[in-house]
Amino acid sequence: IGQSIIILEQTPSTNNYATDQVRENEVKEGTVFLAVAQTAGRGHLANKWESAAGKNLTFSIYIRPNFLPIEKSYMLSKVVCLGLERYLSRFVDQVRIKWPNDVYVGDRKICGILIENGIMRGEILQSIIGIGLNINQEKFVSDAPNPVSLFQLTGETRDLEEQLKELLSHIDLFYQKLAKGEYEEVSDLFVSKLYRLNEWHWFKDDQGKYFGKIIGVNEIGQLLVEDESKNVRAYHFKEVSYLI
Ligand code: BTN
Repeated sequence: IGQSIIILEQTPSTNNYATDQVRENEVKEGTVFLAVAQTAGRGHLANKWESAAGKNLTFSIYIRPNFLPIEKSYMLSKVVCLGLERYLSRFVDQVRIKWPNDVYVGDRKICGILIENGIMRGEILQSIIGIGLNINQEKFVSDAPNPVSLFQLTGETRDLEEQLKELLSHIDLFYQKLAKGEYEEVSDLFVSKLYRLNEWHWFKDDQGKYFGKIIGVNEIGQLLVEDESKNVRAYHFKEVSYLI
C-alpha cells in the first residue's frame, strides 16, 4: 500500500476519482489518491466531509482484497481503524475506534472512513478506502458534531506527505495480517480499542432509549450492546445511536 501516491491539486472526491481511474485505466493495487483540496468530499449517507484545502489528509486507497470472504468485509474497516489508531497514538492519548467507521480522540472525531466495495459473484473484487484525517486544521466551521484535528490537540503542524507515508505503513501492517488470515488477532485488538467499550451509557434504537454497554462487534460487523436485563442487542450501521 502506498508504493504509488498520486497527488491531485483539486478534485470533488478522491473516492470518486479513484473509482473512475480504476474503471478506465490500469491502476496498480495499493495506489493512493491524495487530494490537496476536495470540493465535494463525501461521508456516510448524505453527509459531507469538511476539510480546509491543504490542511488535512483526504485520500483514497485502492486495493483488491479478493482473498477476503465477502461475509468478512467488515474486516477491512477493522484493519484501517487499527492502522489509524496506532498512528495517532504516537501523538495523543485516548484514541478510540467509534463503531462502525470513525476514529475519535476522547469524545471528538478526528477521522472518518468511507469504504466502497466492488463485489462480483460473491467476491470483493475491489475496494476503495476513503480516509479523511484532520491534521493541521485550526478550526471547523460546519455543523459536523465534535470535529478535532491533531493540531488542535497538540499545537503542532505537520508535513502532510510525511504523515501520509507513516499512516500508510501502519495500515499496511494490519492489512498484511488480514491477508495471512489472522482474523482473530485483528478482531480482538479492534474490540479492545472500541470507543465506550464496557461503559454504561444511554443508547437509542427503534424500540426507544435504554441504558447499556458496548461489549463487542460480531463476525459480520454488528455492534453488540448489552442492556440492563443482560440481553445482547446486535445492530447494523444506523440502527442504533449513541446518546450522551
Ligand atoms: C464519514 O465520516 O462519514 C466518512 C468520511 C470520509 C471522508 C473521506 S475524505 C477522502 C475520501 N473521499 C471522500 O469523498 N470521502 C472520503
